[in-house]
Amino acid sequence: MKIKNICCIGAGYVGGPTMAVIAHKCPDIKVTIVDLNAQRIADWNDENTENLPVYEPGLDKIVLSARGRNLFFSTDVEKAIDEAEMIFISVNTPTKTYGLGKGMAADLKYIELCARQIAAVSKNNKIVVEKSTLPVRTAEAIKNILDNTGNGVEFQILSNPEFLAEGTAIDDLLNPDRVLIGGGTDTKGQEAIEALVEVYANWIPKERILTTNVWSSELSKLTANAFLAQRVSSINAMSELCEKTGADVSEVARAIGMDSRIGSKFLKASVGFGGSCFQKDILNLVYIAKSYGLNEVADYWEQVIIMNDHQKRRFAANIIKTLYNTVSGKKIAFLGWAFKKDTNDTRESAAIYVADDLLFEQANIAVYDPKVEEHTIFRDLDYLATRKPEENKEGVTVFEDPYEACRDAHAIAILTEWDEFKQYDWDRIYHNMKKPAFVFDGRNVLDVEEMRSKGFVFSSIGK
Ligand code: UDX
Ligand code: ADP
Repeated sequence: MKIKNICCIGAGYVGGPTMAVIAHKCPDIKVTIVDLNAQRIADWNDENTENLPVYEPGLDKIVLSARGRNLFFSTDVEKAIDEAEMIFISVNTPTKTYGLGKGMAADLKYIELCARQIAAVSKNNKIVVEKSTLPVRTAEAIKNILDNTGNGVEFQILSNPEFLAEGTAIDDLLNPDRVLIGGGTDTKGQEAIEALVEVYANWIPKERILTTNVWSSELSKLTANAFLAQRVSSINAMSELCEKTGADVSEVARAIGMDSRIGSKFLKASVGFGGSCFQKDILNLVYIAKSYGLNEVADYWEQVIIMNDHQKRRFAANIIKTLYNTVSGKKIAFLGWAFKKDTNDTRESAAIYVADDLLFEQANIAVYDPKVEEHTIFRDLDYLATRKPEENKEGVTVFEDPYEACRDAHAIAILTEWDEFKQYDWDRIYHNMKKPAFVFDGRNVLDVEEMRSKGFVFSSIGK
């Protein structure tokens, strides 16, 4: 079966870029991305690509190449479902904040809603593709809902987890290490898999398109994220030891990374990993392991999160301790708020938690981030609900100019590794700061010796 019409439910960080690339590479396929959030859809349709809701290098060009040709953004969910042969579910699956599995299990209410909507609208057979990261065996739940609430039409469920990393999404989509497609093992399942393989084969060599059963595919996504996060927690654990022993974590990372069995990627010590995936997926893994009574497996993976929380808290504690055990009333400048460079996404960013700890000590925080908007920063802090929104407004000021953010500050904390930080006139920044002028580099972006030679009291994670 050759796919001619695709619908994607959810126009977020995954759905938006993924579908834009499919439309760009497959001019014969009509791709419609729908979302309940009308503002988000309006932003995707905005003439001025600076207003696209997702910032990703190269995304604007891809959108412009296909939008209005075979790429459409719409709020008419039902119409898009009805017309499509293949429907991607790309809605958010946050960690549950209530009830059973609170703080651990994925909240599948948005997924369930999508499944019910697909079932209600569909008048002919459809292939439903899970794009969102989901707990193992979610496909079964989706199939159950579809088969029991549908109009007697047939649904094939595929799992096609997305491995793109934010900030490099377009490169990752154009040139992925692999594409994973899980599906049913019977003839119809295999036909559905083949239909999706053909879509990707428009630009991806077939040997990089891997097909498995649904459960392997679902579990592979959680496993990949758990392994990646584990590397960050492992190097972060060593960073604390480096600080005590005089070893330099970058040197250690380089030395071990040259062992081809270990590999050099994902060994950068930092203030902690953030993002919408790592913590959520590991918590999910822990929850699943526990629900099967596999306590040792659960504890093993939970340690990755415990280490990450420790790293964020330790960074804030170091700032407080170094500033003579008090930051009350002191201006601390935050350079960066996003969870990594080249994205405007702030979900689970270390910056939020470091700010929270410093606000608890009554610091005044001045934030500058090249891509994150002021309302997002306050939304992140208010979401923690550790203090009233008025108090967050009082403790935090957002600046559009990094030099102003740093003026009269006692200390600077680098929370995101934006490239532009390396180009700043650090002499000018030093000149306008309170003395002694402290810099806490949570991302290892600046050179230790150079910063010290300018007069800064400088500390960098793991050095
Ligand atoms: C991750 C996975 O990489 C991707 O395959 C999956 O689809 C979604 O989750 P993402 O969260 O977008 O992608 O970004 P990633 O580059 O993995 O970084 C996650 C966090 O780890 C960031 O906060 C980053 O700064 C941090 N990190 C990464 C480190 O602290 N050190 C490293 O060496 C690498
Ligand atoms: P991700 O990083 O997984 O892409 P986002 O939160 O960025 O997550 O995007 C998910 C999108 O899915 C949001 O824009 C949200 O409005 C949308 N969404 C959630 N549930 C539905 C639904 N039932 N129908 C349409 N869109 C939905």
